Amino acid sequence: MKNILVTGGAGFIGSHTIIELLKEGFNVFVIDSFANSNPGTINSIKALCLKEFPKIDLKLRVFKGDLRNLQFIKDTFDAIYKEGLKFDGVIHFAGLKSIKESIDFPIKYWDSNVKSTINLLKIMDEYNCHKIIFSSSASIYKYANNTLIKENSELKPLTPYSTTKSVIENLLRNLYESDSTYWSILNLRYFNPIGSHHSGRIGELISNKPSNIFPSILKVAIGEMKTLKIFGNDWDTIDGTGVRDYIHITDLARSHVAALTMSLNIDKQFLNLNIGTGIGTSVLQLVKTFSKVNKIDIPYKIKNRRPGDIGTCVACNSLALSLMDWQPTKNIEDMCKDGWKWMKYRKENIHGYY
Ligand SMILES: NC(=O)c1ccc[n+]([C@@H]2O[C@H](COP(=O)([O-])OP(=O)(O)OC[C@H]3O[C@@H](n4cnc5c(N)ncnc54)[C@H](O)[C@@H]3O)[C@@H](O)[C@H]2O)c1
Repeated sequence: MKNILVTGGAGFIGSHTIIELLKEGFNVFVIDSFANSNPGTINSIKALCLKEFPKIDLKLRVFKGDLRNLQFIKDTFDAIYKEGLKFDGVIHFAGLKSIKESIDFPIKYWDSNVKSTINLLKIMDEYNCHKIIFSSSASIYKYANNTLIKENSELKPLTPYSTTKSVIENLLRNLYESDSTYWSILNLRYFNPIGSHHSGRIGELISNKPSNIFPSILKVAIGEMKTLKIFGNDWDTIDGTGVRDYIHITDLARSHVAALTMSLNIDKQFLNLNIGTGIGTSVLQLVKTFSKVNKIDIPYKIKNRRPGDIGTCVACNSLALSLMDWQPTKNIEDMCKDGWKWMKYRKENIHGYY
């Protein structure tokens, strides 16, 4: 069976992906500093898998540490190799993701995202592991004004966060183009992952002042925020509010299994793939769907547009659909129902997981 290293595996996308990997029989090794996640998530993953698949042979190990520490990564690879094992591939989620925080603390973002990735790649190369799936972001694209965004659409990262993603993609391209060795590199450019595992037992850790729309809706629904602020109702969209491509977290997680399967079968490749549904949903449509399926009123106020915001951002996902054995299966109603299950669960189980 293949051994996969998952960096940032205790985070929102990592934890959901690990469940899908374990279900498919991969052995999973996690590196996480738990800077932005809770170690209890690992227990939840184990409990969830054992409950849903009682016969599963669960192979999940965790190494707590920070990718900014080169020696720690080397020690981890060393420990595995001394056991006669090797990593067949790496899914690299670890990093910081707050756009606002990145504007306030750019060095922290270059350090955590870029330096960590350089460290990881150095050690992967040293240990002859040359397959990586990298968490990139739709935020690197230039605003496309009501056209579906393709992988070859113009890039224009506007914030330190998105600049780090774009710089890492460039670094990975340089590696691929170097003749020294064969690298298989897949940059998955995520659109807007929301929702949670259908059990509601794992999900996104939401900050006190979320700036994204879905965590903000959840905060209002649970009573921790009074009203939802909607920024702008004068965009050129169906109802004037911003339109985004929301994708259920489990569909996003499954795209990593598909990408990994493809990567394990191809020696040398470099691909950028949009991971979205190709369907746009406005903020008001999202709010109304959430209210309808969960029977909760979400009071909102319309505010002015925020600087840097854009009207529409929707993926053309046809490249991912054509190359991988994958397609999104869940709709906005599923995302709203599952996200709310997780929020209620966390509120009721504030000190524990599962
Ligand atoms: N969630 C999104 O909307 C979104 C969209 C596009 C791209 N991404 C990217 O996907 C990746 C995963 O996102 P997420 O939503 O799961 O984020 P998350 O914050 O929930 O998870 C990231 C995980 O990485 C860990 N981590 C951070 N820095 C680390 C370091 N230096 N060493 C070891 N562990 C470290 C954190 O503790 C956390 O468990 C990130 O790279 C993010 O930029 C996320």
